Amino acid sequence: MPLTFAVSSSPADRVAADLLAVPVGSTPAPAGSTRGRARRAAPKRVLGPGADVLDAALAGGLEEFLDEVDFEGKLGDAISVPTGGKLRAKGVIVVGIGDPAELTTDGLRRAGATIARRATKAGSLATTLAAAAPEIEGADAAQAVAEGLALGSYQFLEYKRDPSPTQLRRVTLVDSRGAGVKAALDRAVAITDAVCWARDIVNTPSKDKTPADVVAEARRLLRGRGVSVQVFDVAQLRQKRMGGVLGVGQGSAQTPRFLRLTYAPTGARGKALALVGKGVVFDSGGLSLKPAGGMETMKCDMSGAAAVIGAMSALKQLGVKTKVVAYVPLVENMPSGTAIRPGDVLRIRNGKTVEVLNTDAEGRLILADALTLASEDKPAAIVDLATLTGACVVALGDKIAGLMGNDEAWAAQVQQASERVGERVWPLPLPTDYRRGIDSSVADIKNIGPREGGALTAGLFLQEFVDGAPWVHLDIAGPAFLSGDDGYVTKGGTGFGVRTLLELAATFEAPSR
Ligand code: BES
Ligand code: MN
Ligand code: ZN
Repeated sequence: MPLTFAVSSSPADRVAADLLAVPVGSTPAPAGSTRGRARRAAPKRVLGPGADVLDAALAGGLEEFLDEVDFEGKLGDAISVPTGGKLRAKGVIVVGIGDPAELTTDGLRRAGATIARRATKAGSLATTLAAAAPEIEGADAAQAVAEGLALGSYQFLEYKRDPSPTQLRRVTLVDSRGAGVKAALDRAVAITDAVCWARDIVNTPSKDKTPADVVAEARRLLRGRGVSVQVFDVAQLRQKRMGGVLGVGQGSAQTPRFLRLTYAPTGARGKALALVGKGVVFDSGGLSLKPAGGMETMKCDMSGAAAVIGAMSALKQLGVKTKVVAYVPLVENMPSGTAIRPGDVLRIRNGKTVEVLNTDAEGRLILADALTLASEDKPAAIVDLATLTGACVVALGDKIAGLMGNDEAWAAQVQQASERVGERVWPLPLPTDYRRGIDSSVADIKNIGPREGGALTAGLFLQEFVDGAPWVHLDIAGPAFLSGDDGYVTKGGTGFGVRTLLELAATFEAPSR
């Protein structure tokens, strides 16, 4: 269940909550102060809003307590403080925010997650929390803390017989800055609800998210969100000559679908921003079957689709003025008597033929149709998200997505949006001389190149289907699905890309061509 937020301008001790969170920072010792002294000057602690209340409850002994337990206020630190029943809250968490002068929006998100983790840890039994956000310059602190709390407290409990007894449900932000804070919290909720929807559907087992199921979930999510939904079934996919989607989907008992989602706010001017997301609901590899270990996490292979659909759901709430259209191919990649075989040739919607030498390189086949359809609609720019290659994970690890594209200004716009929201991406090249690695002797192109540089040949393959439109490809195979928690990003499906897409849509400027 998602967190709900409220704002209160009362002093922190007047707010009814199980827990109270208080930020404490530390400024480094002044430079040069160590010279000529026996003892290094200690960093100076900075007590944040709400600390006065806690200090009063401790009869002025807060600093002494923090000294005693060696709490320096570093970012990521947290400590529970006993209050002997002198406060309305049953417990107090002091959370470190580091040097306030260095505090970033992402630092605030991480501090929010630290609080959330403490509050949801076994035995806490806290369901309500009061927190004060420190003010930082040029950033909306309340929004960032709320995002960190909502994302850090995420749990996937759908398949547990006994859902965890400790779940944070309600947060009151103690802040007297008024209406601006309420709006910031509304934005945080819109964004994090979209991320958590994406996490949920990625974490859902593949048997419960067939292409038809994903369509039904998307319809439910998008109702009342200003998005119109078009669904293509097999008959329409045939009529639209989408040979990539049909080819990959033909081995599964679950037939493929294709979603086109349109957000067209009144008064929107100019061409659309096109979003494309890889939706392989399960990737067994097909007849080029994956080994058992490689299949364990392959319910995550629709993370691009999840990010795109999730982002579409929050555009209206965030007041996005740009037209945004999403293209989502949904298939299951299975081996069977009806599956495509290595050596088969598929015809993509734009007429190009592809020799399928490895049925496990299926993402690019369905994206080829989706990118073709997107470019036919003449968008201002395209961005696609796909858990496309293991090679990209080898190159950049599981925290950073690979970014490729055919337009420097558009690539910079996407990269900057991702930096602002703390989703890390890094540019990879699309070397024109590597293109011959996917030359085919029987078709126009083949679906695999040399093992080396596998993320790049996958990108070069996709480029064949964008018809020259400004395009960026994000290979999210690493950061889409994590084996452990990392700050406000949780284990399993992460919802990576949702926040970048929302930031991109909110600040979109058509690249000039
Ligand atoms: N879905 C996988 C890529 C993947 C790997 C995603 C690890 C998340 C984590 C993709 O369809 C795939 O199988 N790619 C192959 C391509 C190869 C056959 C050219 C790969 O990376 O091995
Ligand atoms: Mn595959
Ligand atoms: Zn795949």
